[in-house]
Amino acid sequence: MADDLNDREYPFGPPDEDVVAFGDGAVPGRPAGVPSSYDRGKSPRWTPEAIADAHAVAQLGRYQIRGFSTFNTRFPTLDDLVFVPATMTRLPLEGYRESCDTKTVLGDRPGLVEQPIELDIPIYIASMSFGALSASAKAALGYGATKVGTMTCTGEGGMLEDEREASKILVYQMTPSRYMLDLEHLRMADGIEIVVGQGAKPGTGGVLLGMKIPERVASMRTLPVGVDQRSTVRHPDFLGADDLKVKIEELREATGYQVPIFVKMGATRPRWDVAIAAKAGADVIVLDGAEGGTGASPELLLDHTGIPTMSAIPAAREALEEAGLADEVKLVAAGGIRSGADAAKCLALGADCVMIGFAALMALGCNSPRYLDDYEALGTSPGRCHHCHTGRCPVGITTQDPELEQRMDVAAGAERVARLLTAWTMEISLLAKACGKSSVHNLEKEDLRALSLEASAFTGVPLAGIDRPYTW
Ligand SMILES: Cc1cc2nc3c(=O)[nH]c(=O)nc-3n(C[C@H](O)[C@H](O)[C@H](O)COP(=O)(O)O)c2cc1C
Ligand code: SF4
Repeated sequence: MADDLNDREYPFGPPDEDVVAFGDGAVPGRPAGVPSSYDRGKSPRWTPEAIADAHAVAQLGRYQIRGFSTFNTRFPTLDDLVFVPATMTRLPLEGYRESCDTKTVLGDRPGLVEQPIELDIPIYIASMSFGALSASAKAALGYGATKVGTMTCTGEGGMLEDEREASKILVYQMTPSRYMLDLEHLRMADGIEIVVGQGAKPGTGGVLLGMKIPERVASMRTLPVGVDQRSTVRHPDFLGADDLKVKIEELREATGYQVPIFVKMGATRPRWDVAIAAKAGADVIVLDGAEGGTGASPELLLDHTGIPTMSAIPAAREALEEAGLADEVKLVAAGGIRSGADAAKCLALGADCVMIGFAALMALGCNSPRYLDDYEALGTSPGRCHHCHTGRCPVGITTQDPELEQRMDVAAGAERVARLLTAWTMEISLLAKACGKSSVHNLEKEDLRALSLEASAFTGVPLAGIDRPYTW
């Protein structure tokens, strides 16, 4: 009996009750060793972050806006998938001796485009607006991409001369706001991208806070200097699939049937959204998962809207197959891609190409440990910075402040972007060759295994060891 056990005595006499209760060295009035006395409570719901957020909005009376990407830890990462290279059932290629094709063609829908886009690698740089980015950052991205035979995109707010000059291949973005939409620029582009949404903020328009709207940005967008911009979300000239078809045809005529038409969307209902865009005539569909980066977005949209990139790609691929357009319409995946391995997994899940935003900014120096006082002034530190919305980027990438922008060395930034793209392409090829593929475009779901039930259910990738997808 437990009571009897408690009645037994030690050979050295009873202990001091205060010491048993961890009273030695404890803070008076605060019992040590009792959970409620610890600094950090255990509520899985009212976490310190949830409490801080309630305090913040209670002071501000509005939702919070920030840059970077989602902080929602429930989004899976591509680390939940691994490759299963060739062993006995398949034959690997020599990783260090045999070649693997990385050429990627976008917009080769038969009979519709005179000049499809030909990239040397299956990765390109995402549309990031001048305004969100400094002109130096835009130029560096363009030169870096050009060096390795790939492309960049303009982003909301028009085309810069510097970026047209820097980027051998440049896609021109048409956002619903139509800021600085210019027919001449349209005809100078190598592709046109109609934006119907973004992964970081699906269902709403762009945000550029007043701190990032000096004279040059304001004049390009016909906006007042220093006033917050909130873009429209619906295109004024199309509402649904029928009008989109007409719009695409109009753009083909305006560009003489020379260049491909892209449709970019956030991942929400890809099975249906992708089918609609493909049937309306898009040559390329860009699917941006909920983990996608942004210069500024309402935080609740970053954390509580959209579906993961990993789950969107297979659904989009199936939609193209069901529509009978899988060989005609190209699928570009984006959103949270952090390495060559991530990019290779996206290709294996069904993407024809991947597009990167923040990874390219990392190559430019985002979050690099320099100018520490300026990170501190923002209340952050290198490795944790997500303050693009403030316009005070310590390393000169997401700023319009001339002094900060000077820190963005165009030549060095371009070189690092080129090296990152080269390294990632090598990583993708190495994985492809290990899986026995002579082209990165031959990677397939069967080359992958899922490490979690969720990853398997989201993607249809066989579960490790079970070798069949988790279904119900
Ligand atoms: C600084 C910044 C500015 C952006 N500006 C635009 C834009 O103007 N138009 C757009 O469609 N997407 C914009 N995006 C989203 C990117 O095009 C892309 O979808 C996203 O960055 C992909 O996710 P990743 O950053 O995780 O690679 C921006 C992203 C960043 C980081
Ligand atoms: S370092 Fe600059 S680009 Fe990177 S997250 Fe911070 S503000 Fe944004």
